[in-house]
Amino acid sequence: MRNVTTDNITDVFKGYMGEGMDPRMRELMGALVQHIHDFARETKLTHDEWRAGIAFLEGCAAIESPDRHEFVLASDVLGLSSLIDMLHSDPKATSSSVLGPFHVSGAPPLAVGGDMKRDFGGPLLMVEGVVRDTDGNPIPNAEIDIWQTAPNGLYASQDDDQDMFSFHGLMTLGEDGRYAFTTARPAEYTVPSDGPVGAILRACGRHPWRPSHLHYIVKAEGYKTLVTEIFPQDDPYLDQDTVFGVREDLVMTYVEKPAEAFPQGMAISGQVHDSFLHVAFDVILARV
Ligand code: BEZ
Ligand code: FE
Repeated sequence: MRNVTTDNITDVFKGYMGEGMDPRMRELMGALVQHIHDFARETKLTHDEWRAGIAFLEGCAAIESPDRHEFVLASDVLGLSSLIDMLHSDPKATSSSVLGPFHVSGAPPLAVGGDMKRDFGGPLLMVEGVVRDTDGNPIPNAEIDIWQTAPNGLYASQDDDQDMFSFHGLMTLGEDGRYAFTTARPAEYTVPSDGPVGAILRACGRHPWRPSHLHYIVKAEGYKTLVTEIFPQDDPYLDQDTVFGVREDLVMTYVEKPAEAFPQGMAISGQVHDSFLHVAFDVILARV
């Protein structure tokens, strides 16, 4: 095209794509460029604003490392990660939610009824439930990878005072699909805000807080792996999670119970002398 204009440039771009192109790639690139061009036309994007956008991407690249995923964080705070999760979530299964950057592979085994709190402070929380299929039947031999912050709001990988797997556990369930563990109630915390993503949050008048949560990855043979998290219904940030991870079925009531109500069969049974928090959360997996 010799006469490229603001009106035809998008179609010109699409026309430049080669005949033998992968059809999905054609669809994605065509739609991406359509939206980017529409964005520039609609906002009359200036050179300075375009440069600021490029500087943002360069700033993300400059601090990107195996421990710092600034591009993923950008996707998280823009709501893109959550939108993609929701687009592919099975409506009959438990909702999925963001993985976040703090999952560590190779967590140590945590027995059903095991304890992750150890000698950490903070309110004692007992979590239990059953992993079920979409008809309500327990799924045998599922596996749950669990991780959370310590009561100080830091993940093990952010805190020199914790060993690398503290508040991480991998639980293999039995035939009955039942899981249970004790832990310290996790604290709300901020996503990293000392980089370009933090600057975007501040420019948008937003804060970096997430409501407190427990992360789960639940796997079972023949079922879709579920990445999810649960939140307490009284958390002050529930209605303003900076990464848009909250879904109605993931909001749980943490019920305070007297010490005498603490059940037998848990690793710390007989050692609980104060009231504790209890949450029941069944996980529903969809078939592959
Ligand atoms: C998290 O839940 O750990 C998390 C999720 C998204 C961005 C940052 C942290
Ligand atoms: Fe998290």
